[in-house]
Amino acid sequence: MTIKILGVASSMREGSYGTRALKRVLDAAEKHEAKTRLLDFRSIRMPMFNPDISNEHHEQMEKVIEDLNWADAFVLASPDYHGSMSGAMKNFLDFYWEEFAGKTFGYICSSHEKGLTVMDQMRTAVRQCYGWSLPYGVSINGEEDFNEKGEIVNSLLVKRLEILARDLVVYGKLIRGQFLQDISTEVSDTFAARYRL
Ligand SMILES: Cc1cc2nc3c(=O)[nH]c(=O)nc-3n(C[C@H](O)[C@H](O)[C@H](O)COP(=O)(O)O)c2cc1C
Repeated sequence: MTIKILGVASSMREGSYGTRALKRVLDAAEKHEAKTRLLDFRSIRMPMFNPDISNEHHEQMEKVIEDLNWADAFVLASPDYHGSMSGAMKNFLDFYWEEFAGKTFGYICSSHEKGLTVMDQMRTAVRQCYGWSLPYGVSINGEEDFNEKGEIVNSLLVKRLEILARDLVVYGKLIRGQFLQDISTEVSDTFAARYRL
């Protein structure tokens, strides 16, 4: 199985450290034979979630939904805003749930304080939607980890991003493969049963 990984970049800041790190993970995943796509909220303007409104026919949302259904696994990248994920990321997570079930998620946070609460919050939302999370995330401290050209100068960070890419490919395939098998059989004692068409 060739795993398809969607990176979700939720900083609206030009030159975002988190988005740069996310691209590095996607590049590293491709070296492990993954296919990747990037969903960057700087280029796709999502409307504010309103449960009363169906956004299915919103032109930009069609592309987002296509990307979500295409993906077997995700990397979510958020800046640390007051110890929380960005509003753009939370708004994105509010829209979807079934699309996340049985898929594996990795996390990146750009923060001066490691961003552990930010990654915990993303992990909680994903778990609530029956997604699986890698048991760690990668935090980056932009001013220290990047030079003025936007290159990563921290070799330990490079290593961590490569580990994240490799683990997402390997564990993501296992989880997704089992989930697809479970929804294609008549086994009833699995959470996956409710996702059968
Ligand atoms: C509104 C706002 C709130 C922030 N709150 C925190 C914070 O609570 N803790 C922290 O370490 N950094 C905080 N920061 C700093 C950003 O997390 C930091 O600049 C990060 O690198 C931004 O990520 P990006 O480069 O991917 O956009 C905040 C920045 C903004 C604009």
